[in-house]
Amino acid sequence: MRSVVYTKSGGMNAIDIVESPTPSPAKGEVLIEVHRAGINFADLMMRQGLYSPVPPYPFTPGYEISGVVRQLGEGVEETGFVIGDRVVSICGMGGYSEQIVCPAERCFKLPENITFDAAAALPVTYLTAHHMLTYLGNFQQGDSILVHHAAGGVGTATAQLAKALGASKVFGTASTNKAEFVKSLGMRFIDREAEDFVEVCKRETDGEGVHHALDPVGGKHMMRSYKALRSGGRLYAFGGSAAVKGSKRSIVTALRMVLTTPKFNPFKMMTSNKAVFGVHMGTWKDEGVVKKQIFSLVEMLEDGRISPVVDKVFRFEEVAAAQQYIHDRKNRGKVLLDFSPQSK
Ligand SMILES: NC(=O)c1ccc[n+]([C@@H]2O[C@H](COP(=O)([O-])OP(=O)(O)OC[C@H]3O[C@@H](n4cnc5c(N)ncnc54)[C@H](OP(=O)(O)O)[C@@H]3O)[C@@H](O)[C@H]2O)c1
Repeated sequence: MRSVVYTKSGGMNAIDIVESPTPSPAKGEVLIEVHRAGINFADLMMRQGLYSPVPPYPFTPGYEISGVVRQLGEGVEETGFVIGDRVVSICGMGGYSEQIVCPAERCFKLPENITFDAAAALPVTYLTAHHMLTYLGNFQQGDSILVHHAAGGVGTATAQLAKALGASKVFGTASTNKAEFVKSLGMRFIDREAEDFVEVCKRETDGEGVHHALDPVGGKHMMRSYKALRSGGRLYAFGGSAAVKGSKRSIVTALRMVLTTPKFNPFKMMTSNKAVFGVHMGTWKDEGVVKKQIFSLVEMLEDGRISPVVDKVFRFEEVAAAQQYIHDRKNRGKVLLDFSPQSK
């Protein structure tokens, strides 16, 4: 089987495609023939050596896949999986591969009407947004939300979940040329290059601010997201995209992001009644909480309340072009890799 491998930290020259023997599923595992693998912004940061935690190089990235179960490890049959099942999996790492072994408990059967594209676009983005808003954030009908990278993977997922959950308003920041796309998702578009999102959020919530601010940018930007909150509001610090400058690693840019990220003072937070959550789904330990949320997301997918926006599907041999597309801020929704045997 062939897999995409990061051989070292760096630009696109750090990517290779290697051939290796197909692994056998151990007890409690299944072997999946991968059809689609989701690309996440974290994969780009890992390639540049700007993400933690990551396995030692060389390694195969890829948190999420959809595909077909081809072999069952010992004890899996009793859990209800059969060979030929179409599944989505939060495989954790190694998803950029033609085949992968995953713990069966990390796999979820797909309803008939769900495509491999929709399934692979679901786990990371929707789970992260859902987890922040509902599990951590005690989201209530009528709450307002501020989300950045609004046209991206997590951004588009947030817009749909907000609608399903009954949000009053979603403010979405993105690049100028994505205005129509962001509006089409029902968000109040804020031009990240030309507008002050704190001012817009305050002005359009009677001076109060938003209930939830989702910040994947970091640096100074994070304090501005905090300022956009109302009393009782919650900030979710869940990324540091400000560390990335193009496809090549820039240590200066990364350091600037780290050094300008605010150190929150609990006493000031106390008097302003605001909360800050640090969020990293990759290191989240409680499998029960994840499972429950994935089941409810698959249900929402099945009945059409959510419908992942897939922008582009690249063959896996074009992985560098696929990642460059995201570096160039071109994506509107999710970008996937096609590993399916049919289109070889
Ligand atoms: N903590 C977690 O568990 C977790 C889970 C999932 C995602 N995340 C984080 O959430 C963010 C969004 O993830 P995603 O996978 O859905 O990606 P994404 O938002 O689809 O990423 C691409 C978009 O990000 C925006 N962007 C902002 N800074 C950028 C930069 N330096 N280089 C290129 N694009 C940049 C661009 O849109 P505009 O130009 O329109 O802004 C671009 O189109 C990332 O920071 C990611 O690390 C965290």
